[in-house]
Amino acid sequence: MAKRQLLMLGIRASFHTIAAVLVAGVIFTAVYLSQNENIQRDGVSDVDDDNGRDCNLFEGKWVFDNESYPIYKEEECKFMSDQLACEKFGRKDLSYKFWRWQPHKCDLPRFNGTKLLEKLRNKRMVYVGDSLNRGQWVSMVCMVSSVITNPNLMYMHNNGSNLITFKSLEYNATIEFYWAPLLVESNSDDPTNHKLPERIVRIQSIVKHARHWTESDIIVLNSYLWWRMPHIKTLWGSFEKLDGIYKEVEMVRVYEMALQTLSQWLEVHVNSNRTKLFFMSMSPTHERAEEWGGKVSQNCYGETSPIDKQGYNGQGSDPKMMRVVENVFDGLKMRGLNIQMINITQLSEYRKEGHPSIYRKQWEALKEDEILNPRIDDK
Ligand SMILES: *[C@@H]1O[C@H](CO)[C@@H](O)[C@H](O)[C@H]1NC(C)=O
Ligand SMILES: *[C@@H]1O[C@H](CO)[C@@H](O)[C@H](O)[C@H]1NC(C)=O
Ligand SMILES: *[C@@H]1O[C@H](CO)[C@@H](O)[C@H](O)[C@H]1NC(C)=O
Ligand SMILES: *[C@@H]1O[C@H](CO)[C@@H](O)[C@H](O)[C@H]1NC(C)=O
Ligand SMILES: *[C@@H]1O[C@H](CO)[C@@H](O)[C@H](O)[C@H]1NC(C)=O
Ligand SMILES: *[C@@H]1O[C@H](CO)[C@@H](O)[C@H](O)[C@H]1NC(C)=O
Repeated sequence: MAKRQLLMLGIRASFHTIAAVLVAGVIFTAVYLSQNENIQRDGVSDVDDDNGRDCNLFEGKWVFDNESYPIYKEEECKFMSDQLACEKFGRKDLSYKFWRWQPHKCDLPRFNGTKLLEKLRNKRMVYVGDSLNRGQWVSMVCMVSSVITNPNLMYMHNNGSNLITFKSLEYNATIEFYWAPLLVESNSDDPTNHKLPERIVRIQSIVKHARHWTESDIIVLNSYLWWRMPHIKTLWGSFEKLDGIYKEVEMVRVYEMALQTLSQWLEVHVNSNRTKLFFMSMSPTHERAEEWGGKVSQNCYGETSPIDKQGYNGQGSDPKMMRVVENVFDGLKMRGLNIQMINITQLSEYRKEGHPSIYRKQWEALKEDEILNPRIDDK
């Protein structure tokens, strides 16, 4: 059990989706831009001030498009993370870069970095969460920085704290990432040394993190993978004092408590006239090839094309957790604060080939059997 959990949380967590990584930045931008702009509906510009409202951006399919994609080149993005740089770490099949998300009922505007920077002028946008959002942030930074021609007009600040900052000086636009994999406080909050054998969540405490990002103009939250175990050790009290109460609680219940803590914080501290809130939904890890008709006990290593079965869903997404997110945020909406969902779950379910797998920097050397047979699902 312990080993299984470790694998799930440590090694597995790092198998995270580059599909979502490459894609959801575009989707996010589309959601954001579409608030003020007309999305092309059915390919016809909609001039009726309807903003493509009856088009669900998250229902659609992947189409191969090697003419307009990729939006940036991996080797040209100096902010690329070694955890996502598949090409640099030897991946030969690069077709994963050429898939464009096509909603069924409208067209997404093509990503335009200059336009996004204009929207972000004098603004601060922050991604908060786990490695999924970190990937999204890297992707966003690469897309945006690809239109900044003068390298002196942008910088990255990373001093080892939970906050990493990218800034465009010309636009005074800041795009940041804040590491808080469970959103509330936990013993996994260290930005580099967070793979611990036992997870403890301090369920009612978020201020330590939230004070770093509450005052932003755009906040994109996420939290999923680190919760994936049946029970979570939950702490009422503080890590430092000895009189805290610890309890093993069923995961879905703790997840809900964490989102409630988040909601209460946002309700009190966020100025909804200034701040736009988004939540990035869960994204699967594609660990079991048998789910999409592959061989038993293999994972997504070596996959080269998306799943084309409409509505495909594997075991990597937990619908119970999705329901919790919906319920908690519906409640918040009724109390007057809206968090817009960036629902990438279905679209990343299709992308079994979109994981770095072994093609990234390894924190620990690969074991011999992993090198000899990377397809074997190490359980
Ligand atoms: C796009 O892919 C097609 C089919 O694989 C190929 O024939 C074509 O040369 C490619 N075009 C570009 C611009 O890479
Ligand atoms: C991107 O947006 C800018 C500013 O809105 C515009 O001037 C430029 O032509 C756009 N670029 C493309 C390729 O559409
Ligand atoms: C630069 O952007 C920040 C938000 O990130 C804002 O508080 C500040 O006022 C802006 N500076 C100017 C000169 O507009
Ligand atoms: C790192 O940078 C952040 C943001 O600029 C700052 O708040 C923090 O105090 C810095 N931490 C260290 C250890 O220098
Ligand atoms: C937000 O704007 C509305 C309308 O302009 C105003 O009535 C309200 O007081 C503002 N709320 C806050 C928290 O500033
Ligand atoms: C997100 O999409 C999934 C699958 O398409 C759907 O089941 C779920 O209800 C959606 N969630 C929200 C909050 O829109």
